[in-house]
Amino acid sequence: MAGARLESLEAIEAALWRELLTAPNDRSHPWRTPVLATTDGDVGDARTVVLREVDRTSATLLIYTDARATKVSHAMQHPLGTLVMWSNAIGWQLRLRVRMTVITDGLELSSRWAQLKLTPAAHDYLSALAPGSALDSALGSRGGRAYFALIEAQLQSIDWLELHEQGHRRARFGDNQPPRWLQP
Ligand SMILES: Cc1cc2nc3c(=O)[nH]c(=O)nc-3n(C[C@H](O)[C@H](O)[C@H](O)COP(=O)(O)O)c2cc1C
Repeated sequence: MAGARLESLEAIEAALWRELLTAPNDRSHPWRTPVLATTDGDVGDARTVVLREVDRTSATLLIYTDARATKVSHAMQHPLGTLVMWSNAIGWQLRLRVRMTVITDGLELSSRWAQLKLTPAAHDYLSALAPGSALDSALGSRGGRAYFALIEAQLQSIDWLELHEQGHRRARFGDNQPPRWLQP
């Protein structure tokens, strides 16, 4: 895609969705590991997460996490957050404004846990201590139950920025208004 510059907003929107839909299944795609920014209402925080699923029809993105994580309490108290991703290969940054819902039970959760618990990644959700707890040594102990949770991020708007030697471009998509150009 590098080099070919898309002209229309429609073509750009279609291409960014193609990239977004590819990212969860492509371990080398930089958009697979965006930064999720949240707030406690006073102080902002940000951390890398893995984009597990993207669904265009419902405009939702799915993240796996530990139910005891700080980002979870942030999301429950202040559901509006931002996912930021950058691809050097295509020169595009996305800032996805999202409304987060934390899912800690139900079929959506149990079906994904049924898959995950068979893999080494299950350990990420089995520690006896909550993420961020102080430890006596570098490796914490493993507990007996899972604290697996989902953060479902409902897209509110997409801020697209293209860095390009012929001039940077910026546009807004997905906010129930027509796509439009913005001053970068
Ligand atoms: C490449 C990478 C991917 C990560 N993916 C996730 C993830 O999908 N979910 C998650 O909860 N934490 C993930 N983490 C860890 C978070 O960045 C963070 O350190 C941890 O979740 C604690 O964040 P919190 O205290 O703000 O909740 C990832 C870290 C890295 C470096």
